[in-house]
Amino acid sequence: MANRIPEEKVDQVRSAVNIADFIGQYVQLKKAGKNLFGLCPFHEERTPSFSVNEQKQIFHCFSCGRGGNVFSFIMDLENLSFPEAVVKVAEFGHVDLPTNYTAQAQPSTPKDQQQADLLKLYADSAKMYQHILVNTELGEPALAYLRERGLDDDTIATFGIGYAPKNQLLLDFFKEHGTDYQLLRQSGLFIENQAGELRDRFVDRVLFPIKDASGRVIAFSGRILTKSPDEPKYLNSPETKLFNKRNVLFNFDLARGAIRQRKAVVLFEGFMDVIAAYRAGLPNGVASMGTSLTNEQIYMLERVTDQLYICYDSDLPGQKATDRALKLLGDNSRLKLGVIQMPDGMDPDEYLRHAGQEKFVQVFEDGKQTPTAFEMTYLRHDLNLQNTQDQLTYLSAVLNQLVKLSSSVEQDLYLNQLVQEFGLDKDDLKQQLRSMIGQRSVHHTATRQAPPPAPAPLTPPPATVTGETGNRGPLSRVEKAERLLLFRLLHDHDVWLRVMAIAGFHFVHDPYQQILVYAEAYFKTHNQFDLANFTDFMADTSLQPVLTSLEFMDVASQSSKEEVADLVNVIMNQQPLVEQINGKKAELTAAKQIGNHDLVQQLTLALIELYRKQQQVQQADNL
Ligand code: CTP
Ligand code: MN
Repeated sequence: MANRIPEEKVDQVRSAVNIADFIGQYVQLKKAGKNLFGLCPFHEERTPSFSVNEQKQIFHCFSCGRGGNVFSFIMDLENLSFPEAVVKVAEFGHVDLPTNYTAQAQPSTPKDQQQADLLKLYADSAKMYQHILVNTELGEPALAYLRERGLDDDTIATFGIGYAPKNQLLLDFFKEHGTDYQLLRQSGLFIENQAGELRDRFVDRVLFPIKDASGRVIAFSGRILTKSPDEPKYLNSPETKLFNKRNVLFNFDLARGAIRQRKAVVLFEGFMDVIAAYRAGLPNGVASMGTSLTNEQIYMLERVTDQLYICYDSDLPGQKATDRALKLLGDNSRLKLGVIQMPDGMDPDEYLRHAGQEKFVQVFEDGKQTPTAFEMTYLRHDLNLQNTQDQLTYLSAVLNQLVKLSSSVEQDLYLNQLVQEFGLDKDDLKQQLRSMIGQRSVHHTATRQAPPPAPAPLTPPPATVTGETGNRGPLSRVEKAERLLLFRLLHDHDVWLRVMAIAGFHFVHDPYQQILVYAEAYFKTHNQFDLANFTDFMADTSLQPVLTSLEFMDVASQSSKEEVADLVNVIMNQQPLVEQINGKKAELTAAKQIGNHDLVQQLTLALIELYRKQQQVQQADNL
């Protein structure tokens, strides 16, 4: 390879970045023992089995078996090549790489060509629409509109906002560039008539690019400039190979860092609200695509934070949506929830323009409500509390909320409010609440929604090589021995020298043997074993999880001569037995063919003896 990034450079990048910080951008990690744990980003799960070892700078998922170093992580997560991964990690660690490497990595090479072509099409479209908005006469009405709404050049650039003019330009633009017709059809950027002719989907609309978690444009949402009864205010791209709105949160790519930093995410209803918050110095906002939150979106958020504030419009429809979202999130996530509401029925964008930045930010600081406090206000919306019947309805609805609280201190707080407002006896209320809690615990287990089943891992788990994954299923005695011996071989060079001197030594299971062969080559050019460096050295990415899974074994720090001898024995004795059986079987077949009855009898006895030995070994394995 001509333009390989030199190993020293790769080492420099690796050592400039702590894997925990890098992965921390994507996974919320918590310390447990000597490792950090979080929810695995490669599959959906509810209990953390994804682990990062800071000391060794590696990760491993005990559930799906993925593992490796910082580069393998981002290669797997974003489908990058090795040089692309190095460039990405270098950016994070502010390590300068010579431009010939960064340029080489630029044209991202997703494995799927059609996906790559679509991404390019969207990237080009976004550029073209933005150019029209910012630099052309055609864009002037849209630019005026955005300015009127308080967006400056920086904001427009940050969000990549563009404009699709009245006269359709996109189709001609791509035709001139000779873009493939089928690709244009599949892009969702055009509408097709029955004759198969295409025309631009977005006409006379301000365009908000919708980006995936890595910031690549995968769709647009177009807002009409002036209200029209015949046309929807926002028009979204249709679902395509790139765009599945269940998996996308507007602004997640830009907000992720801020969400982690501020340890909270704010969920808005509209794009303009997310942008308003950003303008006011609150960059940790996201919005779903005009729909209620999906499980996929909840998983995305759970991985980066455990606190979510709902900041929907404060008019009645907005409050209803907040109520729904609280229930949805309460049932389907472990996020701690809060509610933020703008005064006077306004949406956040309106309030910012109406009241100014200072007051806007103040609402976020002082206006946080607990879900219960929100509900206690919301439940009043269609009741008249002067009316006794309505009062009772209200009280029972509030008590129903309080029953769900796990903190008795919090329950007490709200009970006091009820006592004050309605002049009730606190003991009576407490009594009522206790009997409701009693009933609830009877029904609780039955009524609570079961979490969705976790989907199968994307690829078969590679951590152990005989099919057993992570902590599921016991390993055979031989494989256990192989894993421990390989670990010793790599880390203790005395063991390496001793074992490599044994004629004919090799592992039973291929991947361990392959790692051994890589290690032989590695030690020819490297004096010392360095785990993260060796991980990169083994270009075969399917071996990396096997290697890193060894590091998560619970082993004594020191090896002994006896231990190594035992391990070698277990591994090498396995070999002849299988081979002997096969050999005897072949001889037996031959003896039968030539009709040598004595030999057949003799071989059969020998074979029985070998089978008996094998059985003994297997029984010992199962102990
Ligand atoms: N939405 C949509 N289609 C519509 C209307 C709304 O997809 N016809 C989605 C958009 O994602 C929008 C969100 O719902 O951002 C909230 O809608 P709404 O509150 O009506 O819009 P605002 O965010 O207030 O938009 P604007 O301030 O531009 O009027
Ligand atoms: Mn609005």
